[in-house]
Amino acid sequence: MTYTRRDTFLPFTRPMIGQEEIDEFIDSVNSGWITTGPKSAKFEEELVRYNGVKHCLAMNSATTAQEIMLQVLGLQPGDEVITTPMTWVSTLSTVALQGGVPVLADIDPKTLNIDPARIEEMITPRTKGIIPVHLTGLPAPMEAIWKIAERHGLWVIEDAAQAMGAHYNGNKIGSDPRSVMSVFSFHPNKNMTTGEGGAIVLHDDRFVDRIKRLRFHGIDKDAWKRFAKDGSPHTEVMEPGRKANFMDIQAALGLHQIKKLDGFNARRGVLFHRYLELLKGIEGLVLPWAGDAIHGHCFHLFVLRIQPEIVGMDRDAFVQALKDENIGTGIHYRPAHIHAFYREYYAKHPEALPKDGLPHSEWSGDRLMSLPLWPGLTEEDQDQVVAAIKQVLARR
Ligand SMILES: Cc1ncc(COP(=O)(O)O)c(C=O)c1O
Repeated sequence: MTYTRRDTFLPFTRPMIGQEEIDEFIDSVNSGWITTGPKSAKFEEELVRYNGVKHCLAMNSATTAQEIMLQVLGLQPGDEVITTPMTWVSTLSTVALQGGVPVLADIDPKTLNIDPARIEEMITPRTKGIIPVHLTGLPAPMEAIWKIAERHGLWVIEDAAQAMGAHYNGNKIGSDPRSVMSVFSFHPNKNMTTGEGGAIVLHDDRFVDRIKRLRFHGIDKDAWKRFAKDGSPHTEVMEPGRKANFMDIQAALGLHQIKKLDGFNARRGVLFHRYLELLKGIEGLVLPWAGDAIHGHCFHLFVLRIQPEIVGMDRDAFVQALKDENIGTGIHYRPAHIHAFYREYYAKHPEALPKDGLPHSEWSGDRLMSLPLWPGLTEEDQDQVVAAIKQVLARR
């Protein structure tokens, strides 16, 4: 078949906003109430129901949600938290902002998720918790992680930013009470979006009021109730808090996105498996694992690793060559410890890295790229991505 270059640029992702979201958004704007209010409360109820948890607290981002979780768990300066370098840096930065030390354990190269076998060796008397990340929407091996946490008296919080709708052992990610809390992101790249946004889900009643307070100025009541007819006009600031509340105009999108999420994820799954089929057997490409009955993928990202030693071109050159063919890709992620700040940080905290380094994270981090994947991607788009990959490889 002759190859034809796409004449328009294909982005690696795109949010799926329909007329229902637009109508609901306009309804919020016309109602005169656009910030935290009844739609935000309804959105939280929908997330409680969807995720099979007792509580959900939505806010402006998963990053702020993670900061607040660490604060309510009482993380103190010098406390250590074990996590993975294969994540967005906020997983580490929220620990560092609190004065804690993000300690890194290497990944399993098959899944790109933290390798439980590498966690225990990083535990010290200062370790307080573990933050596994469900990278690409593929659940981390939670059973092994919970066992380690239990053995050492550690808490577990799940960075489920990429994992709305993923399952672990038949249950929704974030629903198992062995993790004290989990966090989702609704950034526009995610499987469902509210523009920006994030949410903490949990079962434990003890943390709820403090999280609510910390997301809104340290005030003890929901702001919107203050202005309701039967509300009190007085506020009481109990401690310094953030301005991290979730707005009704965000909920307007989220209320419809959550209804569509299972359909979105099913379509992502079809496209993910189709990529596997179309790219099968191409030398020099390492294809992602699609999960199994235990690890129920939500197909957030299709992460391909390209082996320069076989294809004769490094990842960045490959990404550029695809861009020249009008195909967009993403990089999820450069390992966190490679970033300028963390290079310096770990030079000062060598005890926070494994003695033998993070070879699997670095190997994958140098080679990975995310191919276009969102529910609206057509099979024709996908065929063009694959044809462009083959074209670039044939040209080397
Ligand atoms: C694994 C992971 N953790 C945390 C975040 C932060 O989410 P947010 O952008 O909502 O703060 C992201 C976002 O990309 C992520 O992918």
